[in-house]
Amino acid sequence: MNFDFSTYMESFIDRKTYEEFFSKKESVLEKLKSYDMTGWIENSISKEEVNKIKEVSAKVREHADVFLVLGIGGSYLGSKAVIEAFSPYFKKMKKTEVIFGGINMSSEYLKQLLDYIEDKDVVVNVISKSGTTMEISVAFDLVYKKLSERFSEEEIKERIIVTTDKEEGKLRKLADLKGYTSFEIPRNIGGRFSVSTPAGLLPISVAGINIDTFLEGYNNALLKYIDKAFVYACIRNTLYKENRCVENFVSYEPKLSYFNEWLKQLFGESEGKDNKGILPTSTIYTRDLHSLGQYMQSGKEILFETVIRLEESEIINYQNSDINKMNFIISESVATAHREGHTPSNIITLSHFDSKTMGELIYFFLLSAAFSGILLEVNPFDQPGVEAYKSEVKKNLG
Ligand code: PA5
Repeated sequence: MNFDFSTYMESFIDRKTYEEFFSKKESVLEKLKSYDMTGWIENSISKEEVNKIKEVSAKVREHADVFLVLGIGGSYLGSKAVIEAFSPYFKKMKKTEVIFGGINMSSEYLKQLLDYIEDKDVVVNVISKSGTTMEISVAFDLVYKKLSERFSEEEIKERIIVTTDKEEGKLRKLADLKGYTSFEIPRNIGGRFSVSTPAGLLPISVAGINIDTFLEGYNNALLKYIDKAFVYACIRNTLYKENRCVENFVSYEPKLSYFNEWLKQLFGESEGKDNKGILPTSTIYTRDLHSLGQYMQSGKEILFETVIRLEESEIINYQNSDINKMNFIISESVATAHREGHTPSNIITLSHFDSKTMGELIYFFLLSAAFSGILLEVNPFDQPGVEAYKSEVKKNLG
């Protein structure tokens, strides 16, 4: 990964403010260590657990047409982002298709989901750390009912995998009672930080993506990128102090659109609290240059952009160039134009893109979000706003 935090940014950064943030490095590291939700920092999963995930996913891939993941927020976005990044655009996955449910309360979505799995060889992975999330309970009940129309309880047992807390919650009790295959989300890892736990790894593995190399990238990233993550966190906080309160995550590859969604959850939930925080948004260019690009170029000066681009891609010759080179030149031209229109950009270039780099990239952003939240003086690991909406809905729905 190559980080360009200066070419399109430098003139917007107040050096004094930046240095003040930068000087807090030691205390930020100390503060980070003081939180108990930091199980994701060091290798977050044992070799035995990884082997179990690989065994279960190989078994699923032998027979299942569909692997239905029921999870929301951090129990869904990480795996969805990785799977989408490595899936073909127009072909269906060869064997087991990974699909997602429990991500809304749309009756139309649920009806179509139930119809879709009706005649398929389906395995369901219900993922909820708390085991109490409404969307998941509702979807799971409906899917279970659908399965009961075709299978005996003994057969259903072979088709349900539970990923939840080790001891607590409704789902854990159910898994233990019924003897479902189950995985654990460690108590010291919050939802949006859980992609390197079974919550993310099982769906990723079922999609045929190499989780060993993914974890290799993830586990090596602390030493490799800790300094860059801190610099990025300082830049974000400096810009925020200068009233740049919106960060637009940009990619020039549509396959990273769910990675953008994952970033929005990571930064939005980690920082948006106590009446503070940078609002994350996202665009896929060049598509959105023809829509939101107008605002990025010359709207209110509240924005900055963080661009992720891939250096290596398909070679398609076009006139005297190739399409990927053109995409690259466009990204530079856009950053220049946006800078001239008063929107600065950070640019992260991946010279090579595979599951290992994906592990690195994810870790880089997790660490950046933790540093950035601490610099902002919020707790990056809680989500009181999410809990607030959950309890209000519970009150009204019963
Ligand atoms: O990051 C978080 O903690 C949240 O987004 C949760 O992942 C989300 O609310 C789902 O919670 P649970 O896994 O308990 O169903």
